[in-house]
Amino acid sequence: MNLLPKTEDKFASKEYWDTFFKKRGASAFEWYGEYTELSKHLHKYIKISERILVLGCGNSSLSSDLFDVGYRNIISIDISEIVIHQMKKLHSLIRPSLKFIHMDALNMTFEEGEFSVAIDKGTLDALIPKESADVIEKATKYFKQIDKAIKFGGRYICISLLQSHVLRTILDYFPSKSWMLRIIRCFEAEKKAAESGQKVFPVFIVICTKFKNLNQEILELNVTTNESIVRLKNTEEVAGIILNIQQSEFISYEVKNLNKKEYKEISLDIYQIECYF
Ligand SMILES: C[S@@+](CC[C@H](N)C(=O)[O-])C[C@H]1O[C@@H](n2cnc3c(N)ncnc32)[C@H](O)[C@@H]1O
Repeated sequence: MNLLPKTEDKFASKEYWDTFFKKRGASAFEWYGEYTELSKHLHKYIKISERILVLGCGNSSLSSDLFDVGYRNIISIDISEIVIHQMKKLHSLIRPSLKFIHMDALNMTFEEGEFSVAIDKGTLDALIPKESADVIEKATKYFKQIDKAIKFGGRYICISLLQSHVLRTILDYFPSKSWMLRIIRCFEAEKKAAESGQKVFPVFIVICTKFKNLNQEILELNVTTNESIVRLKNTEEVAGIILNIQQSEFISYEVKNLNKKEYKEISLDIYQIECYF
């Protein structure tokens, strides 16, 4: 059953998600990887006792997987009451303290600083599915809600494909508001997608940590398999490296499938990572 919309702007509509979850029924749909592929990174950035907000939970098993390994303070929200109803039905008997609430992430009613961590897997990407005039306005509205809900020292963990307009909104908002930014490439999620025969897009985990007062921007990347962290000078450098990764992945996919298509030219822009400590 293909439930993908005809045009990507539908990803931003509540009606699309209601229909998606109605048609999908009890069968879960996991965006950008499951707990197993993400767990190594999530465990590093979330303490077991922390209060966690899952933004746009859909029918992903991420909240219940985290609950089952010991995270007991989780609230998951979604704009679709249909999926929230399904999730309550699925979990209320076996995990009664795992909370699912119907709420718009653009208009949340939580207390200021109520959470230590907000996890977003595919929700920012759905809110701003393509470049458009209102991208900055919408992303800023969303980030302000997150900023309010997260306490100092807390983290916004965003799992995303980081299309250029999405990355731009993150880079424009967080570093300028005293949040440290670290971007990790999730090779585990990509490997799983490749093994199941899907077209692989680089998957990134963005960890934004809220500080009271950072006197300089801290921008870090961990995008190689040897897991070394590099610190970058500015947001343009970050954007250049992420674009480079996305283009190389695209080219390598296209080259592998060259015999199926006709090309006149394939081009790739290469950036050099310059570390500074
Ligand atoms: C790409 S899906 C990701 C679902 C889930 N996080 C996962 O990983 O499988 C995006 C989710 O965001 C939800 N969503 C979209 N706009 C939202 C909003 N304004 N507030 C809360 N949830 C929203 C959708 O209903 C959908 O469940």
